[in-house]
Amino acid sequence: MGIVLGIESSCDETAAALVTTDRRIVAQRIASQDESHAPYGGVVPEIAARAHAERLAPMIEAVMDEAGLSLAELDAIAATAGPGLIGGVMVGLVSAKALAMAGDVPLIAVNHLEGHALSPRLADPDLEFPYALLLVSGGHCQILRVEGVGHYRRLATTIDDALGEAFDKTAKILGLGFPGGPAVERLAHEGDPRAVPLPRPLVDSGEPHFSFAGLKSAVLRAKESGQHRDADLAASFQQAALDCVLDRLRVALDAMEPVPALVVAGGVAANQTIREALERFASERGMRFVAPPMALCTDNAAMIAWAGCERLGQSDPLDIAARPRWPL
Ligand code: KG4
Ligand code: ZN
Repeated sequence: MGIVLGIESSCDETAAALVTTDRRIVAQRIASQDESHAPYGGVVPEIAARAHAERLAPMIEAVMDEAGLSLAELDAIAATAGPGLIGGVMVGLVSAKALAMAGDVPLIAVNHLEGHALSPRLADPDLEFPYALLLVSGGHCQILRVEGVGHYRRLATTIDDALGEAFDKTAKILGLGFPGGPAVERLAHEGDPRAVPLPRPLVDSGEPHFSFAGLKSAVLRAKESGQHRDADLAASFQQAALDCVLDRLRVALDAMEPVPALVVAGGVAANQTIREALERFASERGMRFVAPPMALCTDNAAMIAWAGCERLGQSDPLDIAARPRWPL
């Protein structure tokens, strides 16, 4: 059995976790910066980087203390090396390098998207490769065929906004604050999803990718018309977004070699309406549906530590660079 320290700092969550190769999260700490960014209606990179720099080291110390471990007892230190906001990624990666050097422990530079892609296997020991992954968060919107560690086939990405970003922008239009996804979902419960006619960008096109910019603009125009209740706007937006997701999934699944399971990850996986629709969709196609617990869906360090567990035995050089962009 091995144990890996994971570090995550690519967006607005600062996190450290210790995870074992037999899928035990031994200790973890996570701090969200929502309050610091809320006044700006989105994540401010400079504020995020400074917050990571202040918070990360005490968090690492806390998980190590809780587990009663010294650096030399770790089998690896895994840190997000990209993609993400570069200042934050550098804070986490440089911390990991320093600790790896101090403890003479292998460094594993993890692609944040790989962390999301493999995290369902931390929660579910029965989930074997290959599987289809819908990764929908504030920064990512992709459909992948996860074929093995380091083997990902991307079938769709977004040509403009990510799905979570579309939720956040809709929330802003409706004056609901940041992050907007949960607020839009709550308001949508009180609305009629068929009340406001909204576009479903790219639905029924041969194009495999996502696009949400046109939907967001339509929400803005509908709001400005003053003809609709906010709850109807929220519900209609959510329905349109969901219709897009299901249509894109259909296209992607038809284009890939069949897989037994559909997995959803990323912050938008917290949305109950979307989750339930995905579950129905999967069962109609005879697929198993896997949605990891929410704490593993949103950004966290356990998924980075787990990616390190999956890659145990490998190591990266101490001069490896942080990468703002890093497609899987
Ligand atoms: O995975 P995550 O925590 O961070 C990123 O990597 O982006 O995802 C955050 C995103 C935000 O855009 C947030 O609005 C969205 O996930 N989100 C939701 C819900 N909860 C979070 N979107 C829709 N419905 C929700 N219930
Ligand atoms: Zn993420």
